[in-house]
Amino acid sequence: LMKGIILAGGKGTRLYPSTKAVSKQLMPIYDKPMVYYPLATLIEAGIHEILIITTPEDMPLFKSLLGDGSRIGCSFSYVEQPEPNGLAQAFILGKDFIQNDPVALILGDNLFYGTHFIEQLKKHASYDGGMIFASKVSDPHRYGIVQFDANRKAIDIEEKPTHPKSTYAVPGIYFYDNTVVEKAKQLKPSARGELEITDLNRLYMDENRLHVEVLDPGTAWLDTGTIESLMEASQFVQVIQSRQGILIGAIEAAAYHSGAIDKPQLSLLADELEKTVYGTYLKSLISE
Ligand code: DAU
Repeated sequence: LMKGIILAGGKGTRLYPSTKAVSKQLMPIYDKPMVYYPLATLIEAGIHEILIITTPEDMPLFKSLLGDGSRIGCSFSYVEQPEPNGLAQAFILGKDFIQNDPVALILGDNLFYGTHFIEQLKKHASYDGGMIFASKVSDPHRYGIVQFDANRKAIDIEEKPTHPKSTYAVPGIYFYDNTVVEKAKQLKPSARGELEITDLNRLYMDENRLHVEVLDPGTAWLDTGTIESLMEASQFVQVIQSRQGILIGAIEAAAYHSGAIDKPQLSLLADELEKTVYGTYLKSLISE
């Protein structure tokens, strides 16, 4: 069974002073904490056993927000990352959690929204190796960039290239088979001193076992790396929610949709949030 890891560490220095005392991934995106969005994505995709990796300072806050997951039919556990030594370190820190299972990694500051996206995520089950996504961006030097040949086969990946060979960026969600733990252990720190997820993906690519899916054009991928993109993400969520009458990133709803909890359980959760728009929305799912 596929397990999930949310990487929610790092120093958030680009958002100082807002993130000096509080973890970036706990800052609100419109009406809920940032980490709810990637968490809801994993849960909606049917991944209910999740490891949350945070800094030692922030861990108590994440625990008080999310607990052990049992109230939404999931299991959440926690591991500290004392220093931000790179995304691929998640698989070394998460070794005991992963055991012999395949694993998905999602970055705690990446937000995805799209009706076909969850269907696309579920494709991981039919692949052997690794599965990542690619999405067109206007600023390719900020991301991991994948290059395709004429047959749409991925032939190269580079981390933040000065001279990007394409505009297809790799978003912060990754699916791997169990060899990921051994592969992560082989990695050496990059020039910026991090164990790079891009180097890990290259190992899969060298084995000819990296599947790159172009993100469905109807899927929005937002990152929240700067003050501007944080604000845009909040505005995006507000507009979609008020026009469509839904909540994006509602973990209780994701748990309900993916069968982690049933109607009576959802009803109890809705009662707890009674006086909020959030609670009203959960109630509306029950009567649907
Ligand atoms: O957003 C997608 C991009 O994420 C990919 O296209 C890149 O290939 C990948 O390297 C990564 O790029 P960034 O340099 O933007 O990642 P950043 O260092 O900002 O870290 C992403 C999130 O992960 C951030 O919220 C902090 C957290 N993090 C980061 C590192 C390096 C950790 O929790 N631990 C870490 O060691």
